[in-house]
Amino acid sequence: MARVLLGVTGGIAAYKACELLRLLVRDGHDVTPLLTPDAERFVTAHTFEALARQEAARDLYPHLADADLLVIAPLSANTLAKLAHGLADSVLTQAALAVRAPVLAAPAMNVRMWEHPATQANVVLLRERGVELIGPEEGELAEGEHGAGRMSEPDAIFDRCLELLSQPRASTRLRGKRVLVSAGGTREPLDSVRFLGNRSSGKMGVAVAREARRRGAEVTLVAANVAVAVPAGVETVEAPTAADVAREVLARGDADVVVMAAAVADYRPAEPTATKRPKDTGTWTVALEPTDDVLAELGRRRRNGQVLVGFAADEGERGLERARTKLTNKGGNLFVYNDVSRTDIGFESDWNELVLLSAAGERAVSRRSKEECAVAILDEVETLLEGD
Ligand code: CTP
Repeated sequence: MARVLLGVTGGIAAYKACELLRLLVRDGHDVTPLLTPDAERFVTAHTFEALARQEAARDLYPHLADADLLVIAPLSANTLAKLAHGLADSVLTQAALAVRAPVLAAPAMNVRMWEHPATQANVVLLRERGVELIGPEEGELAEGEHGAGRMSEPDAIFDRCLELLSQPRASTRLRGKRVLVSAGGTREPLDSVRFLGNRSSGKMGVAVAREARRRGAEVTLVAANVAVAVPAGVETVEAPTAADVAREVLARGDADVVVMAAAVADYRPAEPTATKRPKDTGTWTVALEPTDDVLAELGRRRRNGQVLVGFAADEGERGLERARTKLTNKGGNLFVYNDVSRTDIGFESDWNELVLLSAAGERAVSRRSKEECAVAILDEVETLLEGD
């Protein structure tokens, strides 16, 4: 049995929400109806209460924390716009802001309202934030017009609800925690157009940021030339050089969890030129100076209860041995080792294979997608948070 919040907005399709409610209840789920005032002009709260065998929720909070799914059917153009902009003027829009469960919405409106650029821009915003839309379907509309705007059929919405409910629920143990993740590879200027860089794409760090967000954390990503899309709901700060990473990470270094996945340069050109260096026949000798070690500084500042995660991109058994030393020397509580001498994992790849090292011991994580590696890393982080 799952706990489902059923949002209903004002529209002629509101009567179809009764059928969706009936299907959910018959399947054994605990359904709490959340009606907007406009919805009650079409179907009374009594109808939903009778079908759900419980009162329509006016006091929201008891239902929010435990909800497994918020399904909104029908979703009017008006409420769609409110959700896109974060308004909280009814029990339903408040729930949509507060709930951390997946949100499925079935829009239903006049075709011209659906196609209007304002509605389409709102749809993009909602999708970016992870709201899933089902429909609208093409067909006869209430006003006698034809086009896209009909709410999907209740049984189709019901089937999708079941699929969403059967997906493994993300742990919410990071809810309310501040997680800071650095990702990507720094670029240290040689002159105004050239730099010294590395092959890190940022995929692993971005996957950790996405997974932390999924687990309810407030996530900030310090992005050093990240080559992949940044997850929705994650605050992003651009930090192209080692000095930028140091400044942005240390300014936020009091987060509950800091994951240093970025490949931060250990050296930078000592005297970069402000303009492009012209070619000549001589040798170009570049002096490199060391950068500040951000993780080591975080280690020195670490407060009780804080979890610091370092990455050790190194090669072979000797690299793993060095990672063991880093765990003791750098002050982090977890080190993530991966072997960058392999071509089937690591840099630029979607795959990784890890060894997680902490004071509690070592755990090998076999080859899998970087998303799944992020799950393993954050499971370990949660264990360390609880240990403290
Ligand atoms: N790191 C950092 N600041 C730097 C360099 C590295 O915070 N200036 C962090 C990385 O983000 C990573 C960890 O330190 O989490 C390990 O980096 P790595 O370069 O593998 O280790 P080093 O300590 O630099 O040791 P070595 O290069 O000798 O292996």
